Amino acid sequence: KRDNKETERERMRKEKQQGTKNENFYAKAKRFYEEVPATEEGMMGDFVELNSLDVEASRAFLKKFVGGPGKADTEFALDCGCGIGRVSRQVLLPVFSSVDMVDMIDNFLFAAPSYLGMGASQVKNYHCSTLQEFTPATGMYDVIWIQWVTGHLTDRDLMEFLAKCKNSLKDNGVVIIKDNVARKGCILDQMDSSMIREIEILRKIIAKTGLEIVCVEKQLDIPEQFIPLWMIALK
Ligand SMILES: C[S@@+](CC[C@H](N)C(=O)[O-])C[C@H]1O[C@@H](n2cnc3c(N)ncnc32)[C@H](O)[C@@H]1O
Repeated sequence: KRDNKETERERMRKEKQQGTKNENFYAKAKRFYEEVPATEEGMMGDFVELNSLDVEASRAFLKKFVGGPGKADTEFALDCGCGIGRVSRQVLLPVFSSVDMVDMIDNFLFAAPSYLGMGASQVKNYHCSTLQEFTPATGMYDVIWIQWVTGHLTDRDLMEFLAKCKNSLKDNGVVIIKDNVARKGCILDQMDSSMIREIEILRKIIAKTGLEIVCVEKQLDIPEQFIPLWMIALK
């Protein structure tokens, strides 16, 4: 019996330690983004020259899954970790009638309407929330786009968030993850407090969400000196 108590205590100690680690991981990212300018450059950091390559490839990838028999409708999309709405403006708003945006930094959301220009009239809701605390409404979206933000969530929070996204899709809806993928293993970026995962690790996380990978592509025109950029469609 005493052994059991000891094991329970040890388990609680470890859980507490992990909780503190996660809090630090999230708090550090928040401090980082609070200092980031609400501009396209701010959204892309070291990758700003990739903007047009990124957007072109995203548009082509999205086309495979929307607008046609058996494909997702073009009514409503959700942009997760949207920042000022770089993806919304260039990829989602030209395709969808309405877009919702969610980001944890209010300053980015305040900057969004002027950055989006005319497109801002198609934005229905600006949600200021972390993704780990956000639950998208059930059966609401045709496409849920998650770009350059998965690395800011712990494995468990990413898994739980994706499971909630599954629940939030309409018929034929699709979740699209676009993110840096490590060539090998997991790399912790201390500067912005994010984790760059290898594809196998992402696959393992996705496998626990109830979503299935329907298409996965490494973007081939990204120059060698950059971390590989991948697109993953989930249903
Ligand atoms: C590198 S920027 C990418 C912005 C946008 N997705 C794009 O591609 O232009 C990362 C964004 O994710 C947001 N972010 C980081 N961690 C987050 C979290 N835990 N919950 C919600 N948003 C988060 C940041 O505030 C920032 O706007």
